Amino acid sequence: MLASKRILLIIGGGIAAFKTLDLIRRLRERGAQVTPVLTRAGAEFVTPLSVSALAGRKVFCDLFDLTDEAEMGHIELSRSADLIVVAPGTADLMAKMAVGQADDLASTLLLATDTAVLVAPAMNVRMWQHAATQRNIAMLKADGIGFVGPNGGDMACGEHGPGRMAEVPEVIAAIESALSSGPLQGRRVVVTSGPTHEPIDPVRYIANRSSGAQGTAIARALASLGAEVVFVTGPATVPPPDGVEVVRVETAREMLAAVDAALPAEVVICAAAVADWHVASATDRKMKKTEGGMPALEFAENPDILATVSSRGADRPGLVVGFAAETHDVVGHATAKRARKGCDWILANDVSHATGIMGGTENAVTLITEDGAETWPRMGKADVARQLADRIARVLA
Ligand code: C5P
Repeated sequence: MLASKRILLIIGGGIAAFKTLDLIRRLRERGAQVTPVLTRAGAEFVTPLSVSALAGRKVFCDLFDLTDEAEMGHIELSRSADLIVVAPGTADLMAKMAVGQADDLASTLLLATDTAVLVAPAMNVRMWQHAATQRNIAMLKADGIGFVGPNGGDMACGEHGPGRMAEVPEVIAAIESALSSGPLQGRRVVVTSGPTHEPIDPVRYIANRSSGAQGTAIARALASLGAEVVFVTGPATVPPPDGVEVVRVETAREMLAAVDAALPAEVVICAAAVADWHVASATDRKMKKTEGGMPALEFAENPDILATVSSRGADRPGLVVGFAAETHDVVGHATAKRARKGCDWILANDVSHATGIMGGTENAVTLITEDGAETWPRMGKADVARQLADRIARVLA
């Protein structure tokens, strides 16, 4: 899949730079051509000699290296790749990218390029969690920069938490996905995921136990087939996938507004566990304990996002997919739900306690379409997501 792909690899200055030596080897094994760029700090961790020996070509280090400019100017270098990979992506490099600073070869290439960029961040956990780093990452994501990792775990500096560079196979998978000309290339898909929070007052809310795992896996699977995914998520416990546009919402009404704003799209998948009701009597002042016992809450019905999208007129997405979590007569209830909501497909699952599906890693689903019910074997949620994404790719082909 990477045969003859040209990758410009910018190696930043962090202990994780050692992983890029293996990354270069693995990329070349897959037929990719790797042009390495080593920052001054990067050269403190890996030597230009080992990098160029593994890449089988010259390593570029300095902006003012006249030989390089004569052979290939920095502008050309920045554009002569199919993908630019920054690994390890240090806090400093990302800060420069976010503000558009160009004071060395790496940052100048990143500013001059019109090629897709993928960053594998790596840094100390406190640096990762710092508001400035998180702000820079949000800006870079909004600019369309892709990310892989970081992972959590023990760090070389002795601390523990997120900040470890993604492992080489993960970086390779992200590179393959970024370079994918998959079957869903250019297709816009909206995925809702996670629970909603419906406020009672400024400090209390009504929620549910959805983790967002299945919706996240679906968004990831669609993105890996090349889809342009807008991921509208309530406050989920699993982090959103890389390579998608993330829109964070809290309430069902916000979720509907976000989905509306993301349309038109060819496919909408409603995997969110949306609250059916919100508290109509919600106050903007904290409710106090009253003498007369528990205060009564008044409820009002939430919009049904799946039904609303399904009943849109001329700009209705071509394929609208919903979920049905049932505890008995799964197919019967899900078939009725498909008709009631007007969607095209329903993925139904049995969430009775004994199945261990709710909050678990596996799922056993039945796909209900106009042609009837098709039961899939029990499998991991990521596999369900891949199977669904493949199915979508087939019907859109
Ligand atoms: O009605 P029920 O909650 O069982 O329907 C489940 C399906 O409907 C899911 O796909 C869910 O995301 C969607 N839904 C929605 N908006 C709601 C309620 C459910 O999109 N208010």
